[in-house]
Amino acid sequence: MTISKTYDNALDVLKQSFSGSECELWVDEVRNHFIPQPLRILDIGIGTGESIQKRLLQLSWNGYSADLHGLDPNLCVETVTRHVYDDAHLYKTRFEEATFSQTFDVVNASQSIYYMQNIPAMLRKMTQLVQPGGMVTITLWSQHCSLYQLQRTVFGAGATLVTAEQVAEQLVQQHLLRDVKLVSCKGQLNLSRLRASEQGLDAILTIISRKFGDVFLIPQYRAKLEKALLSLPDVAPRINYMLVGQK
Ligand SMILES: C[S@@+](CC[C@H](N)C(=O)[O-])C[C@H]1O[C@@H](n2cnc3c(N)ncnc32)[C@H](O)[C@@H]1O
Repeated sequence: MTISKTYDNALDVLKQSFSGSECELWVDEVRNHFIPQPLRILDIGIGTGESIQKRLLQLSWNGYSADLHGLDPNLCVETVTRHVYDDAHLYKTRFEEATFSQTFDVVNASQSIYYMQNIPAMLRKMTQLVQPGGMVTITLWSQHCSLYQLQRTVFGAGATLVTAEQVAEQLVQQHLLRDVKLVSCKGQLNLSRLRASEQGLDAILTIISRKFGDVFLIPQYRAKLEKALLSLPDVAPRINYMLVGQK
């Protein structure tokens, strides 16, 4: 099993215990910003492609079409092409190394900024890739999300990953975009189901570590997670924010 496959499987397990989705919120933001028209869309960290395809489908029902460009360092073309439109442009690369000869109407990064080195520089790069009149959308966990709080408890404050609130502050401080706002996506995480299975604990550890490694095999982290889960309710808040800014 490849490393990214382990991660995708963990996400699948965890998703069965999630409620709440950013899809409709994202579609609303795009519809509020653009009249129905063909849109050039860059999806950074496209993953399996399911997430962006769900959004594009909803846009298509509302009269939009999309020229999709998707990149991911762990891209599995076979998997992504099962989900996205045939004519999508796919690139197996980190965003840090990606180059484009065109700009986009929408540059989107859903749950992928965590993994980047030099986030302020990557925010600048995202902004440069948006054409005037376009928009940037970034989804990340918020500091109030149970998964983020579990991450801090298990891996320690020193290993803590960036939150939506911190990225919003960086965008504002760098004056990169206009009208930056945080759209809250509140969902739930059904911990009683996850706590009850080995697979559930592995999935939580893999996802909160935000790494593609076998972190769940390290007993010290598993013990800390089991202890931390005891103090959480059966249904815990899962809170993501979508950052939206205009150029
Ligand atoms: C949590 S998944 C999100 C996938 C998809 N966007 C979604 O919302 O379901 C994060 C993705 O970011 C990708 N990624 C990791 N490092 C990256 C980088 N430096 N540049 C772009 N994408 C990266 C991973 O391979 C992974 O597919």
